Amino acid sequence: MCGIVGYTGQRMAEDILLDGLRRLEYRGYDSVGIAIASDGLKVFKDKGEMSKIEPTIPRWDGSMGIGHTRWATCGKPSKENAHPFVDCTGRIALVHNGIIENHLALRKELEDEGHVFTSETDTEVLVHLMERYYEGDAHAALVAALAKVKGTYAVAAMVEGDDRIVAARKENPLVIGMGVGENMVASDVTAVLSLTSRVLYIMEGESVIVTAGGVTIFDRHGSRVERQPTTVTWTLEDAEKGGFEHYMLKEIYEQPTAIHNCLLGSLDEIDSGAVMPDIDLSTVKLVACGTSYNAAMVGKYIIESMARLPTTVELASEYRYSPGTGESPLTVLVTQSGETADTLAAAREARQRGCRTLAITNVVGSTISRETDHVFYTNAGPEIGVAATKTYITQLISMYLLGLRLGTMRQTLDRTEVRHLSTELRTMPRHVSGVLDRASEIEKAVDMLVPARDIFYLGRNINYPTMLEGALKLKEISYIHAEGYAAGELKHGPLALLDASTPVVAAAVNDHTRDKMLGNISEVAARDSPVLGIGVEGDRELAAIVDAMIGIPKVPSILSPVPLTVVLQLIAYYVARKKGCSIDKPRNLAKSVTVE
Ligand code: F6R
Repeated sequence: MCGIVGYTGQRMAEDILLDGLRRLEYRGYDSVGIAIASDGLKVFKDKGEMSKIEPTIPRWDGSMGIGHTRWATCGKPSKENAHPFVDCTGRIALVHNGIIENHLALRKELEDEGHVFTSETDTEVLVHLMERYYEGDAHAALVAALAKVKGTYAVAAMVEGDDRIVAARKENPLVIGMGVGENMVASDVTAVLSLTSRVLYIMEGESVIVTAGGVTIFDRHGSRVERQPTTVTWTLEDAEKGGFEHYMLKEIYEQPTAIHNCLLGSLDEIDSGAVMPDIDLSTVKLVACGTSYNAAMVGKYIIESMARLPTTVELASEYRYSPGTGESPLTVLVTQSGETADTLAAAREARQRGCRTLAITNVVGSTISRETDHVFYTNAGPEIGVAATKTYITQLISMYLLGLRLGTMRQTLDRTEVRHLSTELRTMPRHVSGVLDRASEIEKAVDMLVPARDIFYLGRNINYPTMLEGALKLKEISYIHAEGYAAGELKHGPLALLDASTPVVAAAVNDHTRDKMLGNISEVAARDSPVLGIGVEGDRELAAIVDAMIGIPKVPSILSPVPLTVVLQLIAYYVARKKGCSIDKPRNLAKSVTVE
């Protein structure tokens, strides 16, 4: 989730690029760079926020250039890892958004050929591949380079002495801004809006040549594509949200891509052991706060079921003051920001106690990543809405990857089971898209929740913590008191609170607890509580005992938290919207909690 911008025309390219980068900063902000064709190729890049770096950038004449704002995925935030990258001849510059999966093998091949690398990034292989294939045609070189890579990209490149910007996309957005005698290329409409509202969207697998005077698009087979520009009527603020009303909704809709990016490369590496640390262990402890704690709770079920390893979960704020038991479990710190004060303190405490530590975080180079023995990045991209959504779903995916890895190491999963679960995990982006397609149904179903003061969220087994997360999401953004409960516990107290004014959201999926859940739902309905049931599509028995039902796709029950979570996020979102709440910035809450 980086930002890309390129300009070619009559004006000073640097002004336009910097303006575009400022507008793209919300997509990524750990480093910035530009390359300008100005009496040779001039490149400047540095680590830090745009506002701090901008005054230090030299001024270059030149009417063509490319720029980038980075959100680190492969390689920590640093000047060396910032884009653009330049080949060994110093003539080709390139910027990239996405992940090159086979970069290690390509890097080795290129180094053996004599290419010298200057960064830790996956992206740098692209510029060296272009160098390998460049014979006077930048477009042909880019296409040949991309044919060698596995992964995803929006990429833009230029070659000194050539008046063209060449670009291509696979699973990452790319748009062309069409001016008069000037054109732009960008990862996001936001970056071109100050120049023009006429845009051409580049489609999957296409590549493009952009000059000051025109734009030529090619399909994946190299044939020319004719396409008319469309006129964007968005304001800049709309554009940042990609046309969604709130960042939270945008981020909910980004989840299929986020899951895909989280899985990229990792599944193949399960066998090789590269994805998670290869250590001897007899127990696992997961430590986290808030939403990340709920992901850790789901993780406990996953690890115990896949790897048969005793797993405990602790709140970071409790763990850091707990007496300890003298044991040294693998301690997994789950934190999207990597900066949560309690989780950082817990990481330090774990190391003091002699535990190996593994951080699962979304932010490359975050404090936690520097203070633990191992790191796994969730690759969800930057999240702006305070309520965690796509970072949570990728934390869940990381838990499955950890479960698979530990299960493989401990031989509690055989190869067939690993293959089966891996294949099913790869279908998650599709299933999440299936849930998103039903958003309008969910929007209608939540009407029964909007007037409530208190709501119970009930689940069992692996979906007990999933319902904890559903309740947390609702209370954060709608300010309705919501409580997640293990359905079997209801009769031990909270049943006394139920009546017609207290709705219940209940999940009953296709696992061994489904029949018990149906029983619990009947108990609740008998107290007149309106019930919104979530179950596998076509579950008529469930539909018959609830007031409204939302269907989720049938997936192996261990994976059901993934589609179920998306339903719960949409429930929280639509309730909050109907109540007119400040969804992206809920009162009293911050995105990163750096105080104890
Ligand atoms: C809820 C939410 C918070 C965070 C918590 C921990 O939507 O985002 O509950 O989960 O503050 O934050 P991280 O994951 O950054 O450690």
